[in-house]
Amino acid sequence: MSHSPSAAFIAPSILSADFARLGEEVKNVIAAGADWIHFDVMDNHYVPNLTFGPMVCQALKPHAIKPDGTPVPIDVHLMIQPVDALAGAFIDAGADLVSFHPDASAHVHRSVQAIKAKGAKAGLTFNPGQSLDVLDWLIDDIDLILIMSVNPGFGGQSFIDSALRKIEDARRRIEASGKNIRLEVDGGIKPDNIRRVADAGADTFVAGSAIFGKPDYKAVIDQMRAALA
Ligand code: DX5
Ligand code: ZN
Repeated sequence: MSHSPSAAFIAPSILSADFARLGEEVKNVIAAGADWIHFDVMDNHYVPNLTFGPMVCQALKPHAIKPDGTPVPIDVHLMIQPVDALAGAFIDAGADLVSFHPDASAHVHRSVQAIKAKGAKAGLTFNPGQSLDVLDWLIDDIDLILIMSVNPGFGGQSFIDSALRKIEDARRRIEASGKNIRLEVDGGIKPDNIRRVADAGADTFVAGSAIFGKPDYKAVIDQMRAALA
């Protein structure tokens, strides 16, 4: 199939970082080559787990910077219901991209517009059991599609293979739209399967346990880039 011209981005998920040393973890994973910092927000309502809120995002924002001073985007993945109030709070706290699950918002189009009106990039996230149909109506309005390759809520789960077909479908939709939309995949990504995910059409790869579960973050990110090369 035709393929994304975009450079591959690695987006480490700090869900698997040491929460007692989050600022240092963000700095270290950026030094190891992270392109985005993936920030998993869980509310113990939409998903059965609870993580961190806008105040933690704000505290980490000054650490999301490369050694040469270039800012590293904070990629906020909202697993919360409702969406709108906290989406705005995260943008005020420094989020550069905000994605949410369309089934968690009563008015998906309005939520997308609200994120963009506050100056962030907007993404839609799709669970393993969900179709991409809402993109029929929203692809022209978004900057990011996030395909879940695990059920949201926890790190360290196994990659669900049907996500590959969904990634192919999303890639076709992006190409048909002619828009510059990143196609990100989240869950169970490791150096040994990242290439299959890229071949299906993804250009942005979330990885939590694969990176933070190993002592040498750079070695893992380098292995991922080598697999993609
Ligand atoms: C799951 C989160 C993921 C998670 C991925 O709800 O959205 O970002 O951290 O973790 P791994 O890479 O360990 O599957
Ligand atoms: Zn995520």
